[in-house]
Amino acid sequence: MVEIPGNLFPRRLDKQLPLATKAQGVFIEDENQKQYMDASGGAVVVNAGHGREKIARAVYDQILSHDYIHPSMFTTHPVEELATCLAQKAPGDINRFYFLSGGSEANEAAIKLARQIHIENGNSTKYRLIGRWKSYHGLTLGSLAAMGRTGFKTPFAPLLKEGLHIPAPYCYRCSFGLQYPSCKLRCALALDEMIENAGPETISAFIAETIPGATIAACLPPKDYLKVIQEICNHHKVLLILDEVMCGMGRTGEWFACDHFDIVPDIVTLGKGLAGGVIALSAFGVRETHFNAIKNNSGNFMHGGTFSHHPVAAAGGLALIEILEQEKLVQRVKSKGEKLGRLLEENLLPLPQVGDVRGKGFMWGIELVQDKKTKIPFNRSLKTVEGIWELLFEKGYLVYKSTGLAGVDGDAIVIAPTYIISDDQMEMLVKAIKAAIIEFFDS
Ligand SMILES: Cc1ncc(COP(=O)(O)O)c(C=O)c1O
Repeated sequence: MVEIPGNLFPRRLDKQLPLATKAQGVFIEDENQKQYMDASGGAVVVNAGHGREKIARAVYDQILSHDYIHPSMFTTHPVEELATCLAQKAPGDINRFYFLSGGSEANEAAIKLARQIHIENGNSTKYRLIGRWKSYHGLTLGSLAAMGRTGFKTPFAPLLKEGLHIPAPYCYRCSFGLQYPSCKLRCALALDEMIENAGPETISAFIAETIPGATIAACLPPKDYLKVIQEICNHHKVLLILDEVMCGMGRTGEWFACDHFDIVPDIVTLGKGLAGGVIALSAFGVRETHFNAIKNNSGNFMHGGTFSHHPVAAAGGLALIEILEQEKLVQRVKSKGEKLGRLLEENLLPLPQVGDVRGKGFMWGIELVQDKKTKIPFNRSLKTVEGIWELLFEKGYLVYKSTGLAGVDGDAIVIAPTYIISDDQMEMLVKAIKAAIIEFFDS
């Protein structure tokens, strides 16, 4: 065992983390050669599997060819090619891509971009952002203000700009106590009400995860929700920013999750799986019309970062896309995702504490409740999902946790395997989750 000097400021201060020494395919290995099935791709990041040689070679070759190139001085082949590649896959006229390092950064840039688009179009009174409760958009101050997870925001509230929020399309726990479709999408209409009340002339953009990930555990909006949201946005000249940092890049069985709903946002953000988790890479994509508004007026987006448009990261992203295409992995997510969903529903829904199983492609949520009829959640102090997570970790399975689904209470397990997981591995995983839930509640 290697002695660790202990100067790291670790992610967890409350426990000693094991030392990972290897990651290959679907598995991570620790220093004692214990294997863990990575069933959440870390934080829903790793999509093509760990240790991909093609990505390693592309990154290596790019470093030796031309590594750091300042994006305001030169352009490079990898960033140009990656932008074209994404534009070909993106819906509508989302033809322009800007590369950054993390999802939070991409959302910050998108919020600024929306504001600048309004200025260019002569609508300079539009500056306010509307988000949704129970959403996550990142760790920086702007994205933290935009998000709607109270627990994450409260300690930093004095540092944050005002945030306007509407309820999430969370049918399992509808904020209005209604049911789809008789609800007539009350949660979408709440956006219209919010814009009217706040003053449409002040509202710049609405930001939402196309398919929420860890926040409300892969709960899909009703089919027509985003169409109604887009109509409301268009009516009030409010730009629609869709955050696909978690649900993009094939995670839900389409390259862009908004393709499930047949809509074209004004701005879309990507991150996490954009380079398969191998190297930090994120992006925003924007419609050509908005790009032209900037190009033909002030001439430049007032935004720039040392590590934007990094050719090495872009080379990693290109290699990742090549893998996803050559191995038809996005199509695989679509078909195998249905199987994974069926397995989860058949095996877990009968358990007394599993209130709901929902998801799309390779992003699934399992919501845990005290009582299935009343949907009463477990009190957060019981740390239910943490307990189940620990049991799974001990058995060698890595899943993701979601909390705060019902006010500050509520627990869910999120499953987001790499796109190469085999049928047998899916079955092993579901069996292990079932056993861990039973063991936790029996003990
Ligand atoms: C939907 C969503 N947006 C943004 C982010 C922030 O991304 P990052 O952690 O790379 O800054 C996350 C991270 O979990 C996310 O899930």
